[in-house]
This record gives sequence, structure tokens and C-alpha cells, in this order.
Amino acid sequence: MRKRHLQLCLAFIAVVTFILPIICIAEDTTAGRKVYEKYCIGCHGEKGDGNGAAAKNLIVRPRDFTSGVFKFKSSPAGTLPAADDLKKIITYGLPTSSMPSFRLMPDVEMEAVIKYMMTFSQRWKMEKSGEPIGSVSVPDFVGRPKSINKGKELYSERCAMCHGEENEGGSVSFTLRWGAEQCKDLARPANFKNRIIKRGSRVEDIYRSIILGVEGTPMLSFKNLISDEDRWHLTSYILKIMGKERR
Ligand code: HEC
Ligand code: HEC
Repeated sequence: MRKRHLQLCLAFIAVVTFILPIICIAEDTTAGRKVYEKYCIGCHGEKGDGNGAAAKNLIVRPRDFTSGVFKFKSSPAGTLPAADDLKKIITYGLPTSSMPSFRLMPDVEMEAVIKYMMTFSQRWKMEKSGEPIGSVSVPDFVGRPKSINKGKELYSERCAMCHGEENEGGSVSFTLRWGAEQCKDLARPANFKNRIIKRGSRVEDIYRSIILGVEGTPMLSFKNLISDEDRWHLTSYILKIMGKERR
């Protein structure tokens, strides 16, 4: 009799520790899958590989989530973004690309779809998100004429070959291809004259792209290539091309 009790007890423990969590995880991703199928699948595809029905008509391809590589994050190149970085992009979209804004999506749906997105790449199972650079304090000189002039010189030397000179209308000198051979995504250097860029148009957003780069594209991280002061001068100049005041 005691043995039978023990067996029942062990069976109960097994259900609680192994089977219930599996059921719960399955439920979790079911909610996210519904949101994904409703709003994202047409571009990002059933397998999350960026091959949705609309993808072939898009110049900048929808992100392939199976690679686990993301462009606009607050963590260093080579690391996974924080869930908040993904939330920001899904909320505001990526202007100048077809990635729409889902500003009205309720938080529960947003969290569920992010969890579901994370099932497409094994990286999310094996790695933690990278350490975000956190908030940055903007030096006083940013936006002043001297800083803009210094930024202009640096820009001509280090950035214009891809982003174009200001007097070319910030035009794009060339488009570059990146990504897996079969995907051949187009990465167009940002055109600052458009006034709207993808990560956001605040001083900090521009500085973040310079220090962290745009992973998976030819836009390198300039963390170890340019001094911090120079990164701020470049920020001053880009704000000027964008016709924006420092805010
Ligand atoms: C109309 C097509 C379209 C739809 C619908 C769409 N996306 Fe995108 N998405 C894109 C494109 C295109 C990009 C790549 C933009 C780029 O690289 O600049 C992208 C990029 C992304 C990125 C990558 C951001 C980064 O930093 O690399 C995330 C995350 C994302 N989409 C999530 C979603 C989610 C979640 C949904 C549904 C709620 C969704 N997208 C719906 C087209 C779409
Ligand atoms: C080898 C070419 C190349 C060079 C050199 C380069 N960039 Fe870029 N940059 C790119 C590409 C490509 C993108 C766009 C990535 C995308 O949207 O997919 C980009 C994006 C950016 C962005 C983000 C724009 C956004 O949409 O939010 C900023 C800011 C930026 N570059 C600043 C600079 C600065 C400053 C320099 C010089 C120090 C520089 N870049 C040098 C290719 C380059």
C-alpha cells in the first residue's frame, strides 16, 4: 500500500515538474502565434524567415528572424537585443521601410508576439540579451557651430562615401547588399536629408547608431574607431543635415 502511495506521489511530482510547464509554454506561444498570424506573417513569413507573401515586392526585405540578428538595439553588436528594443520597433515601426507601426497593439499582445518571434531562432534559447548602453548624457557643445564644423570634416572623411555629401542632397552614393546569399537584402545608407531615419531622430538615437552600428549591415560600430568627442561632433553635423535643432 505504501509503495503504491509512493508511486502516485512520484507520478504527481513528474506531472507538476515536467508536463505542466510544457503545457504552459505551449499556451504562451499559441497566444503570440495568433497575433503573428494576424499582423506579421504576410511580410515576415510563416517560418519567420522574412519570406512572407508580400516580401518579394519589398526593396528592403522583412527581417529574417531565424538569424537572430537585429539592426536597431541598445546592446552592442554581436549580442541579442533587449525585449524593450523589440517593443520600441514594433510600436513605432521603421520609417523609410515598410515595417509598420503597431502603436495601438495592447501590451499583452505585444509581449505575446515578441515571445513568439523569439521561437524562430535558437539564439534566444542559448544566449542572454546584451547589456544595454543605457541612457547617455549629451555634452553641452552638441549643436554649436564649432562642433557642427568639426563634424562636417569628420563626416567627409569617414561617412560621405556611403551616406553622400550634404550638397549632394545627402544622396546615397551606392546601395549595398548584405545578409545570406539567398536573401540578398538591400541596405541603403540612411539619407539624412530625408529628416526621418529609422532608429529615431533624437540626438541620442543618432549617437547610438554611431557607437553601436547597425548590425548585419555595412554600418559598423564606431566605438573603437572614433573618439567619443568626435562621435558627438558627428551627431551635431547629422542633426544639421536633418535640419533639426538639438533637443
Ligand atoms: C508590410 C510588411 C511588414 C509587416 C506587416 C511587419 N513587418 Fe516587421 N519588418 C518589415 C521590414 C521590411 C523590416 C526590415 C526593415 C529594415 O531592415 O529597415 C522589418 C523589421 C522588423 C524587425 C527588426 C528590427 C531590427 O532591429 O532589426 C522586427 C522586430 C519586426 N519587423 C517585427 C514585426 C512584427 C512583430 C510584426 C507584426 C506585429 C511585423 N514586424 C510586421 C516589414 C513588415
Ligand atoms: C560602409 C558604408 C557606411 C559607412 C562608411 C557609414 N555608414 Fe552609416 N549607415 C550605412 C548603412 C548601410 C546604414 C543603414 C542601415 C539600414 O538602415 O539598414 C547606415 C545607417 C546609419 C545611421 C542610422 C540611421 C537610421 O536609420 O536610424 C546613422 C546615424 C549613421 N549610419 C551614421 C554614420 C556616420 C556618422 C558615419 C561615419 C562616421 C557612417 N554612418 C558611416 C552605411 C555606412
